[in-house]
Amino acid sequence: MGENLTELFRRLTAGVYVVGVAHGGRQDAFTAAWLVQAAFDPLLLALSVNPENASYPLLREGGGFTVNVLRRDQLETARHFGTVSGRAVDKLAGIGWRPGVTGAPILADALAYFDCRLAGNMPAGDHVLVLGQVIGGALADRAAPPLTYQETGDLDGSSELYPSGF
Ligand SMILES: Cc1cc2nc3c(=O)[nH]c(=O)nc-3n(C[C@H](O)[C@H](O)[C@H](O)COP(=O)(O)O)c2cc1C
Repeated sequence: MGENLTELFRRLTAGVYVVGVAHGGRQDAFTAAWLVQAAFDPLLLALSVNPENASYPLLREGGGFTVNVLRRDQLETARHFGTVSGRAVDKLAGIGWRPGVTGAPILADALAYFDCRLAGNMPAGDHVLVLGQVIGGALADRAAPPLTYQETGDLDGSSELYPSGF
């Protein structure tokens, strides 16, 4: 049944992003798939964040985040930012980036980015749902296809996290 729930939930289509955060001169970034557009007016993105992530307090205190859209050939970038915590290593060392409006990193090598100001948050079980108002962004590569969550397989180890039943 656990495997069935994993298979069921993986039929929800999603992209793969590197979410950048910054506060007090520190930056971090993590891979995220639970991200969608939530409104046209104002332009809002909704992101579900595990509050255990080292990035989470930087997101909250920094008041914003960037969303870097990965290309289909950037699975290793998804692994780099999504399988190691910023508590253990500086994941941005040796990576090209520049600060967005709130200081959160915009990756030089992403397909596109969105720059967001934190617009709200609410608890969502073991995660926190945050809203970001999009205040900037650009498309760097019009031709490249984006990486999809399905193409990352079990990179996030989530098959272990689904309950055995409803
Ligand atoms: C493909 C993939 C998707 C992920 N999606 C999310 C997500 O939507 N939200 C989240 O909080 N963590 C997500 N993660 C897990 C974080 O990226 C991971 O825990 C990361 O190491 C946290 O880094 P930090 O401690 O430096 O913040 C995902 C990981 C992978 C590999």
